[in-house]
Amino acid sequence: MPKWSPNSWRNKPIRQVPQYPNKSTLQNVEKQLANFPPLVFAGEARTLLNNLAQVAKGKAFLLQGGDCSESFAEHSADNIRDTFRVLLQMAVVLTFASRLPVVKIGRIAGQFAKPRSEPTETKNTKTLPSYRGDIINDIAFDETARIPDPDRQIKAYRQSASTLNLLRAFAQGGYADLHFVHRWNLGFVGESAEGHRYSQLADRITEALDFMQACGVSSETAPQLRAVEFYTSHEALLLGYEQALTRTDSMLGGYYGTSAHMLWIGDRTRQIDGAHVEFCRGIENPLGLKCGPTLSSDELLRLIDILNPKNVPGRLTLICRFGSERVGDHLPGLIRAVMREGRAVVWSCDPMHGNTIKASNGYKTREVGSVILEARRFMDIHRAEGSYAGGVHLEMTGQNVTECLGGGQAISEADLSSRYHTHCDPRLNATQALELAFLLAEEIARGRSSETARAAL
Ligand code: PEP
Ligand code: CO
Repeated sequence: MPKWSPNSWRNKPIRQVPQYPNKSTLQNVEKQLANFPPLVFAGEARTLLNNLAQVAKGKAFLLQGGDCSESFAEHSADNIRDTFRVLLQMAVVLTFASRLPVVKIGRIAGQFAKPRSEPTETKNTKTLPSYRGDIINDIAFDETARIPDPDRQIKAYRQSASTLNLLRAFAQGGYADLHFVHRWNLGFVGESAEGHRYSQLADRITEALDFMQACGVSSETAPQLRAVEFYTSHEALLLGYEQALTRTDSMLGGYYGTSAHMLWIGDRTRQIDGAHVEFCRGIENPLGLKCGPTLSSDELLRLIDILNPKNVPGRLTLICRFGSERVGDHLPGLIRAVMREGRAVVWSCDPMHGNTIKASNGYKTREVGSVILEARRFMDIHRAEGSYAGGVHLEMTGQNVTECLGGGQAISEADLSSRYHTHCDPRLNATQALELAFLLAEEIARGRSSETARAAL
């Protein structure tokens, strides 16, 4: 392998790169960012890697989710709390069903840069550069708004820092105490069928906690009951920003991307000799790789060689996003290739990005039915191939938005306009996300009981 450095990606072909009009302002911003404090520590990224290694071995489950794209406009404590809260609820449902620890990672505190299918967008007769996420340009359909502005990187860094600060407080400061399992079910979620189902589960957990308390196990004696580990992640798309936040680990050496605990490579930027793969191969964080329908098994094996040459379990998560109709054609071949070559990976299902459709009224949307179907097929295929379906990767929010069709609330095309707030792709709302968690829980429990049945034979 040729020598890697934090800027070696600059000599490689790059896709999805914004055209900044003023290069010296951009360099100035990158210089400032390089002097800012890291957002995460190398030691935390290592702990996450160890947790993901447990997932790779089938001893834990991965739950990763959050906004498609965070925005400056929607930055608020309520939004952060609500996303965190639904992830906690989902984790409880999944832990209960799987009897396994759930590794929790948010698409949050840095998920700002967006790859686009088209470089331009046309409305009526006007064509402008596409919106590329708040860290790059503005969503307003206006000539100046769409010019990439380097100062947005500073704003995104500061917003990420404040979001992460609150997340750390929620995770460690008492909000996530399992004794509050009922309180995470507030508001519109609690009113729904999923909310009622969750409430019943919470009753059973509370009963178990009361029993344990009587035996002397409480939040005071068992810190695991009082706090959770929560990690952050985003797509490593804007490489100048990622490079500026890459630091050497003062404890053990090695380079870490310190903008988030985990970074992933998008489906549009995973070229073997491209800049994004080059950057990611040299940092020691756990990595994700989006796997879409155009990825062949040979290409996947070469990417694994580059990104995880030492075959370290937990280093690489394959985030599969084929679409409910195509997952059956693509996934089995990839699983067989990876198993044949003995590569340790985490298999995660992104049932969102292969199921995006356009509603007849023009809204970009997804049907909850297709999302659920892809997740179910993903698990069935893994069961059939004898590999472990280790996790899910979702675009979701704690808000009561109307961006995806169907689900328990039966959101129709006509409902989409009522609360369609996303800056990019449609997200599951809190009840739809909980619905999916229950479905996954059923699938996992089904797998578990057939394993137990097999073991008993
Ligand atoms: C995303 O995760 O928001 C995304 C753009 O995904 P993909 O690279 O899989 O299309
Ligand atoms: Co998206």
